[in-house]
Amino acid sequence: MGIFAIRGGCPLNGSIRVQGSKNAALPILAASILANGETLLSDCPCLSDVDAALDILRYLGCRVERECGEVLVDSAGLCRCEIPDPLMRRMRSSVIFMGAMLARTGEAHITMPGGCELGPRPVDLHLEAMRSLGAEVRQKEGAICCRANGLHGSRIELPLPSVGATENAMLAASGAAGETTILNAAREPEIAALQQYLRLLGVSIRGAGTSVISVRGGLRPAPCRMTIPPDRIAASTYLAAAAATGGSVELLGAVPEDLTPVLNVLRQMGADIDVARDRIRLRAGKLRAPDLVVTRPWPGFPTDAQPPLMAACLRAEGVSVFVETLFENRYRHAEELCRMGARIRVNGRVATVSGTESLRGCVTKAFDLRGGAALVIAALSAEGESRILDVEHIERGYEDMPAALTALGAQVRREE
Ligand code: UD1
Repeated sequence: MGIFAIRGGCPLNGSIRVQGSKNAALPILAASILANGETLLSDCPCLSDVDAALDILRYLGCRVERECGEVLVDSAGLCRCEIPDPLMRRMRSSVIFMGAMLARTGEAHITMPGGCELGPRPVDLHLEAMRSLGAEVRQKEGAICCRANGLHGSRIELPLPSVGATENAMLAASGAAGETTILNAAREPEIAALQQYLRLLGVSIRGAGTSVISVRGGLRPAPCRMTIPPDRIAASTYLAAAAATGGSVELLGAVPEDLTPVLNVLRQMGADIDVARDRIRLRAGKLRAPDLVVTRPWPGFPTDAQPPLMAACLRAEGVSVFVETLFENRYRHAEELCRMGARIRVNGRVATVSGTESLRGCVTKAFDLRGGAALVIAALSAEGESRILDVEHIERGYEDMPAALTALGAQVRREE
């Protein structure tokens, strides 16, 4: 069990480079199966979720090499089309391998994926998309078997813009004969990153970033390389930490457009924010509660930024109100924050935060990735020492967070 020991009360100051995006890297690693050869990825973040994806690729018969942020995957030797349950359970994104395996081999055998417990996380939309492309999908006691005797292009209308289902549909459609149209597709920036990678494999695909994505199946694999874009949620987290501690932080490599909804909220709270093409500087002012924050699919306010932003609101003047519309159980951090003196009331999907003068350090426990990041932010802005337990949840998505925070002047140690 990992622990972060944090001495709070020190404003964050300085500049750091934003890590590569977890949510862009994971589907691209799954897609590397389609390359039937070498893919070199730069800025691939060092995270336990990425390790899980690399272990799946190795199990499937790919050669994987990793040196710092560079990952090389050679999928020419792929020899399996099933993923054992222990590998599936290590993260939610293991389910994205389904579309890729189906497109490459015509078969995919998986079990229900793991990942953060944020309430029910069904995969019905993923399966429906595979069926629509001509796969026979059978489910029995948690096992999912997909088989296709040649996938065919189709019209897939998603009832809601699921990020993962959109990615799975894009991957399977890349190996299908003919044209696929995905309607009500997710528009998150990570979808555009996946489109960029699929184009490197010769797939004719357009529309990522809009609600309609068109894919003309057909792969012309050739060795390719790509740089993973910066992580907008990690960037949001460090900005929220800077705001919460009254600091001044510059994020190098951040893409401001990918953070627009978060920057808008931080500005409403009184932070002074300057942006350039590839950097963001935030200087904290006296914080006040923002307008109502409602999580929505992109371009709305991202659900993954809700916990870090809530932590920044704990000492803001006034009452901050959050409405979580994507995941049922995404306020588990609230109770832990209250141990530190936060005043939060949760009622179903609504959380109300009444600003308090000060927070006190104490022992808390991370239950999920972004909720864990919220505990770190609160600890940085609290008086005294905090100990956050079960930080493995945090390490799924933040690359060496103690080092990043220490570079900004915080006092953070990782202990076992
Ligand atoms: C992705 C992100 C995650 C983020 C989420 C929403 C990755 C690796 N993870 O997760 O960080 O919090 O988008 O922005 O990119 N749903 C169904 N049936 C399905 C699929 C989804 O009902 O088959 C529902 C979910 O329960 C949820 C909503 O759709 O309420 C959105 O989920 P989705 O966009 O699929 O999230 P993920 O792809 O799992």
